[in-house]
Amino acid sequence: ILGLQTKKIGQHVHYEEVVESTQKIAHRLAQEGVQEGTVVVAEEQTSGRGRLDRVWHSPKGTGVWMSIILRPTVPPQNAPQLTLLTAVAVVQAIQEVTGISPQIKWPNDILIEGKKAVGILTEMQADADRIHSVIIGIGINVNQQQQDFSDAIKDIATSLAAETGELINRATLMQTIFLKIESLYEEYLKNGFGLIKVLWETYAISIGKRIIARTLRGSIEGWAKGITEDGVLLVEDDLGVLHHIHSADIELSTR
Ligand code: BTN
Repeated sequence: ILGLQTKKIGQHVHYEEVVESTQKIAHRLAQEGVQEGTVVVAEEQTSGRGRLDRVWHSPKGTGVWMSIILRPTVPPQNAPQLTLLTAVAVVQAIQEVTGISPQIKWPNDILIEGKKAVGILTEMQADADRIHSVIIGIGINVNQQQQDFSDAIKDIATSLAAETGELINRATLMQTIFLKIESLYEEYLKNGFGLIKVLWETYAISIGKRIIARTLRGSIEGWAKGITEDGVLLVEDDLGVLHHIHSADIELSTR
């Protein structure tokens, strides 16, 4: 990419027109031992993947669909921290490029005016005690118009262009994301998760609010207190019991 200012992230970019999923290609490249910071970008994905086995709509030419390969020297249980790091980086990049201030919905959705513009999917190749690679998938709705979204998602999805009324240069956005990830990642490897956790909490929509967390084992309603060092969400229910939420969909409660 022209004018790239990073040392690691985005130094090698595999650009593809159409793929099933950039995650799939990134997994293969990671196994082949490519350099850390290698990125797979596609114009279109035919089976983009979301969290919890959902599909991610990835139409041609309007979004940023990419996967970044990292090889952090941290224990496997810390890998979720990289998802939160990525969310912070993407929020900062969107702020810088568009002037919009998005918010993060735990664990890793990025919303504008309550609608989702970005999803992040982190997958890992690891042994019990060592990470081989972490594949960070980032999907950003960039230049879709509101009417481009299918009926199934039009009430919950938005794009940067739909929010700003202007088309956004995807290359500039990607470069800015690479820069933000690189500087936060350096900070993370040097000083740990502390600063990133603080930044994440300042951008998070649900912390300090009353929420409903729908987990596989049922719903928990209460006050979102914050996140732990591992990125686990802490929710205090009305009996004062503190719940550690590892995986759930979050909704703001109106009570
Ligand atoms: C989610 O919110 O559920 C996560 C969505 C992640 C989508 C991105 S697009 C690039 C990468 N390739 C995929 O198949 N998924 C991720």
